[in-house]
Amino acid sequence: MAVFIPKDKISEIKNSVDIVDIISDIVLLKKVGRNYVGLCPFHAEKTPSFTVSPEKQIFYCFGCGTGGNAFNFLMNHDGLSFFETAKMLADRYGIEIPAQTMSPEQKRRISERESLLAANKQAMYFFKHSLLSDAEGKIALEYLKKRGIGEDTITIFNIGFAPAGWDNIINYFSKKNISHELVEKSGLIIKRKSKNGYYDRFRNRIMFPIFDVSKQVLGFGGRVMDDSLPKYLNSPETYVYNKSRSLYGSHIAKESCRASETVYIVEGYFDVLALHQHGIPNSVATLGTSLTQEHVQILRGFVGKNGRFVLVYDSDAAGIKAAERSIKVFDKGYVSAQILVLSEGYDPDSYLFEFGYNSFMNAASKAKSIILFLIESAVNKYGLSVEGKIRIISDLKQPLANINDSVERSLYIKELAEIIGIDEAAVMEKVRIVSGNKSIKSNKKLSDKMRDKNFTLKGDRLERQIIAMMLQFPEILSEIILRNILNQFEDESLKLIGQLVLKQGEHKDVRDELHAVSTRGNIFVSDIINSIDDREKRSIVASLSIGEDQWSREGCLKLLAQFESIRNRQKKTLLKKIRAAEESNDYELLLELLKKKQIQVRNDLKLS
Ligand code: UTP
Ligand code: MN
Repeated sequence: MAVFIPKDKISEIKNSVDIVDIISDIVLLKKVGRNYVGLCPFHAEKTPSFTVSPEKQIFYCFGCGTGGNAFNFLMNHDGLSFFETAKMLADRYGIEIPAQTMSPEQKRRISERESLLAANKQAMYFFKHSLLSDAEGKIALEYLKKRGIGEDTITIFNIGFAPAGWDNIINYFSKKNISHELVEKSGLIIKRKSKNGYYDRFRNRIMFPIFDVSKQVLGFGGRVMDDSLPKYLNSPETYVYNKSRSLYGSHIAKESCRASETVYIVEGYFDVLALHQHGIPNSVATLGTSLTQEHVQILRGFVGKNGRFVLVYDSDAAGIKAAERSIKVFDKGYVSAQILVLSEGYDPDSYLFEFGYNSFMNAASKAKSIILFLIESAVNKYGLSVEGKIRIISDLKQPLANINDSVERSLYIKELAEIIGIDEAAVMEKVRIVSGNKSIKSNKKLSDKMRDKNFTLKGDRLERQIIAMMLQFPEILSEIILRNILNQFEDESLKLIGQLVLKQGEHKDVRDELHAVSTRGNIFVSDIINSIDDREKRSIVASLSIGEDQWSREGCLKLLAQFESIRNRQKKTLLKKIRAAEESNDYELLLELLKKKQIQVRNDLKLS
């Protein structure tokens, strides 16, 4: 894939990229010593084990073992190809990739993702133009004005208008020589069932582009300006648009979410606009789906694990339903959330325009944790008769069982018991019955974790230490070559990694790199990672590089001497074993031992 972008451009990109900068977009990082740590975006965790080294330009998660450089991070996290990642980074850091280096064939092969994003962006400009500069846009502007949406908000959110008619978009793209097939894939036009041709999906609607955090347009929502149905029409899910990972307004909310460590999660486009306009920019909307674990992961990156998540709903019924569903996603993401139900008949949009900022904030400050909200709702619904209490427990036992954290769970069980005046043990018992085989499940999780840990620890301890030393103290590489250390390795993976490190060491004047401590540090390790295709091996390299061991030449030589003497001793032992096997006529064992010996001899030959 890399053939599309000249090698020197790739290095230019690599030299410009700052991994902390890239990852900060997605993970809230905190500086600890020389590294940064945060909550891993690749698995759910409570305490940060995700580590980023600005000096080495790599990341590694001690919890799940994922690791690599900035390229790998983006490829893993956003599902991009190497080429897409390089292009995106080039854009971001203002590096121009000369067009003439791409042949027509290569141009055609520019990924589908990129073409779709480009088409969406073009459509966004078209809709904006229709809203702001076309005569037909007038009534749409009027509508927005009537709903209190100001010019600034229109600009910031890039709101537009799709004119009435069946082929405005089609014609627009035809003029730009963009194929109908591509535009159809973006969901902007639809193939006619009966005859040939296409028609516009969005007609006579206010258009809301949906962005991702890096300000790419993923899709659209379009609202009618009267009471006709459907009220909102949305882009279908496409190669670039996944509703369960997208949140309306996330690109604008991110910064203020970080600053305030709070995010308001609402249901509608207009709710986000209204909050923004009333000085509450830290809000996002789900896009006609319920909140998913992926949404929570994204938002956790915005507000941090101790951040405040406030779900805002317009009715008790909607709130209860969402609360029941979301308890699981929040708990999995190890964050707790609150629910705010506005007075009957109001959504955040109408509430703010009627009562204003202070009133909203006041209501928000009284938002309750999800489970308390459910308890109170049940009490209101059923009352505190004996029958009512039974029903309350029956409604609450599942949500309570869904709380993974045992301390939190027992605190809420206690709370419920107190509120309804029932013995705590009785409630506990009910919850335990629903939990059923929960303990079995958590055991399985534990063993998964142990396996992961073992994975990172597997391989000869000394051999791992040697590789770590090579990565962290490249001055020693010449000694490794001289003593032919790698040929004495038993772990094939580690041996291969060692060879790649040596190869990279040859490529560059390593010492030069080490001394040229730019603000971004050296990218020796990051380059090695780039040369590895295998995900597991990349993670091993990241894990062995990220340590902050202090190496001295003396210490290194000691380690190598230790390693050599162990291998020598093993040779002697092997000889003894062979003799013993000969004496006892154990041919099976002998054969096995001789094979080992053969390998040794071969390595020794390479040694001389
Ligand atoms: P609402 O019906 O609550 O609308 O839908 P709203 O956001 O308050 O919009 P206004 O204030 O009447 O203009 C909430 C969200 O559900 C999705 C949209 O994302 C909407 O913002 N929805 C609703 C649809 O996708 N399609 C629909 O037909 C209706
Ligand atoms: Mn509304």
